[in-house]
Amino acid sequence: MLVVATASARGVPPKRRHVITSTSGSRFFGWKLLILLCVSLSCVLVLAALFSLHSSYLSDADSSNHFKVTRSTVSRTFHGPPKIAFLFLVRQNIPLDFLWHVFFKNGNVAKFSIYVHSAPGFVLDESTTRSSFFYRTQISNAIQVSWGESSMIQAERLLLAAALDDPANQRFVLLSDSCVPLYNFSYVYNYVMVSQRSFVDSFLDVKDGRYNPKMSPKIPRERWRKGSQWFTVVRSHAEVIVDDDVIFPVFNRHCKRRPPIDNRKGKLNLKLQKQHNCIPDEHYVQTLLAMHDLEGQLERRTLTYTLWNQSTTKMENKGWHPITFSYANASPQRIKEMKGINHVYYETEFRTEWCRANLTSVPCFLFARKFSKGAAMRLLSDEVVGHFQVSAMLDTPP
Ligand SMILES: *[C@@H]1O[C@H](CO)[C@@H](O)[C@H](O)[C@H]1NC(C)=O
Ligand SMILES: *[C@@H]1O[C@H](CO)[C@@H](O)[C@H](O)[C@H]1NC(C)=O
Ligand SMILES: *[C@@H]1O[C@H](CO)[C@@H](O)[C@H](O)[C@H]1NC(C)=O
Repeated sequence: MLVVATASARGVPPKRRHVITSTSGSRFFGWKLLILLCVSLSCVLVLAALFSLHSSYLSDADSSNHFKVTRSTVSRTFHGPPKIAFLFLVRQNIPLDFLWHVFFKNGNVAKFSIYVHSAPGFVLDESTTRSSFFYRTQISNAIQVSWGESSMIQAERLLLAAALDDPANQRFVLLSDSCVPLYNFSYVYNYVMVSQRSFVDSFLDVKDGRYNPKMSPKIPRERWRKGSQWFTVVRSHAEVIVDDDVIFPVFNRHCKRRPPIDNRKGKLNLKLQKQHNCIPDEHYVQTLLAMHDLEGQLERRTLTYTLWNQSTTKMENKGWHPITFSYANASPQRIKEMKGINHVYYETEFRTEWCRANLTSVPCFLFARKFSKGAAMRLLSDEVVGHFQVSAMLDTPP
């Protein structure tokens, strides 16, 4: 067995480990256990939070209309097979479109749809993507997204709202511009469809200093959750996320990223640094679903594999970062190890999550990040997502 340390949260030590267990009776690789220490700073923050018991009575109602996401109420009946909506949350174009092209090409067009949230005004067409699957898939009401701010979760909600317009969309998979599939389309489709539950990474972390007591009473501390941004949800949960006009405004007001120290701001820095360092996309969906008592309808894990760089020192004070896979470290052996992971250990809850879909044991991960073009090229040539012809790729611009 080989243990790989991972975590969902940027800038914090990992809170769980993925354990690769040989699913096909292969070899014992040896343990690499990681003992993770609570960063004393977060303990201090928890204490500080306990002392500032006064909760905010400021009304969030005035700001809620501003963030309301409207969706048309569509009939729930549809003809043909249920579809997976692939939701791409990207900065500009789809850098790994060539790999997704082969993935979709080997799929069934009646069984998926694609929605892209890109920079406002950015159009996916012949001049901006090599894959015709992405032509005009950008949503028209895209907003400017600042990474680590609530505009990010607003963008997710806009994607979900657009996808809810098609009643055939029954599962909603959120993907980044560096995400890759680890399996072919039919495998992904069956895995996600047999499960009546959403896949949402969600855990309690009492030492986490991101909860802001001002969120109480709208969000009580015991409902505060943390987890990977990359979710797959069923339709009813997508509706909960889009229709939410209670929790989102609280996040918008009180869950903010701590700005970096800016010397020009002088003493103001002290005040800014006292703010709770909160990254909305690592808390919003999981906290919202907990608030709605829907945790019983979740597989509390993500389908997207991330490898965290353990060698970042505390001195750097930047926390842990995901490792970007390059051509060199996306070897077939490495990919096989990712695909062999069958359980995840959540340290803060002492919970071992054995990966299941519809009560059947399955590999934990269908997708992985962050992949460079070189690494994605390697997946393509190793035919991880299915058979492809080089000539078909060369035909298409740019
Ligand atoms: C998809 O992958 C699965 C498992 O990896 C394999 O059994 C199946 O034959 C593949 N299907 C297609 C259509 O390539
Ligand atoms: C889930 O598993 C049960 C029991 O094995 C089976 O009867 C059911 O058809 C499965 N559901 C789906 C959607 O495949
Ligand atoms: C991990 O982080 C260290 C320190 O920041 C850096 O030097 C190293 O290149 C990173 N490793 C990978 C594989 O990204």
